[in-house]
Amino acid sequence: MNREVVKIVEVGPRDGLQNEKETLSVSDRVDFIKRLMNAGNLWIEGGSFVSPKAIPQMIDSEKVFESLRDDIKASHVDLSFLVPNEKGLERAKVAGVNSIAVFTATSNTFTSKNIQRTVEESLQEFSKIAKESESLKMHMRGYISTAFGCPYEGRQDPNEVVRLAGALLDRGCFEVSIGDTIGVAHPRQIRDVFSKLKTTFGLKRIAAHLHDTRGAALLNIREALDVGVRVFDSSAGGLGGCPYAPGASGNVASEEVVWFLEAAGFTTGVNLEKLLDASQWMEGRLGRPLRSKLYQSKKKPYYFDES
Ligand code: HMG
Ligand code: MG
Repeated sequence: MNREVVKIVEVGPRDGLQNEKETLSVSDRVDFIKRLMNAGNLWIEGGSFVSPKAIPQMIDSEKVFESLRDDIKASHVDLSFLVPNEKGLERAKVAGVNSIAVFTATSNTFTSKNIQRTVEESLQEFSKIAKESESLKMHMRGYISTAFGCPYEGRQDPNEVVRLAGALLDRGCFEVSIGDTIGVAHPRQIRDVFSKLKTTFGLKRIAAHLHDTRGAALLNIREALDVGVRVFDSSAGGLGGCPYAPGASGNVASEEVVWFLEAAGFTTGVNLEKLLDASQWMEGRLGRPLRSKLYQSKKKPYYFDES
């Protein structure tokens, strides 16, 4: 039986590690990414070209890319890096990166705290980034944060999500990822927002980026699948959060998403056991238990994978 493919974008090395207290060395970050590649991940976010004063955990992302350059060339992996402004793009260009992601939000308060710009100013900046990245033949992904709720402004207007998705697609993003930055979305809201996006753009270029603060991420993925979403961001071990969204917990754990999707009859191309090995390695490296329930359940004597 042919199983329908669902694309997983592994964001652990960026969204995960940007929120860890400890800044991991370049070689640890490279090692983690290699393990994720070995598990079959084809889309991985490797780091970000943001200010090291703002996010010290992502310092030296150039070196991370440089250490992986040959592995990337020899594979079909898309290793992308977050770029907030023209300076970030310049760093990506000098490093030789060919896949970037830009990010804005529905909320002006969040955007100002995150990148010192209003939402409209961020779009103006992305227009410049888009022009140059296109001439450099880079792939550009887009994010819309706080799409379901903002830590400072509360619930957000779904029509604003649609407007911003249009703005990012118009600027050349090949895919726009809709972020539940603080993990407050519920299934009805998921249905509402993704249905509106589907009516306006179709869902081929739309992804869901869910954080699991309330433990509702898999329920929300089930709902999004039902509407037709086939791209999900996740992070190995459930690492992560956002430094500008205090209290938000990590991304939905990749192993939980892979296990759930495979059990539901989809295929992801990601090997669950190898992914769990990558999480285990990271748990040892961080010296704290990872949040992923599936990963923790593997330590129990009755663990088995029946998918
Ligand atoms: P700014 O202070 O407005 O920048 O910061 P500036 O242009 O005024 O420059 C100030 C200093 O920063 C200067 O250095 C610049 O050179 C430097 P100084 O002269 O003081 O030594 N600078 C940079 N350095 C390195 N790389 C750069 C860069 N730009 C300026 N690209 C800026 C603006 C955006 C840089 C800053 O606010 C920043 O880096 N913010 C971090 C944003 C971030 O990484 N947030 C987390 C990721 S978003 C997220 O997690 C959400 C997501 O997962 C989706 C979801 O869950 O919703 C994507
Ligand atoms: Mg995030």
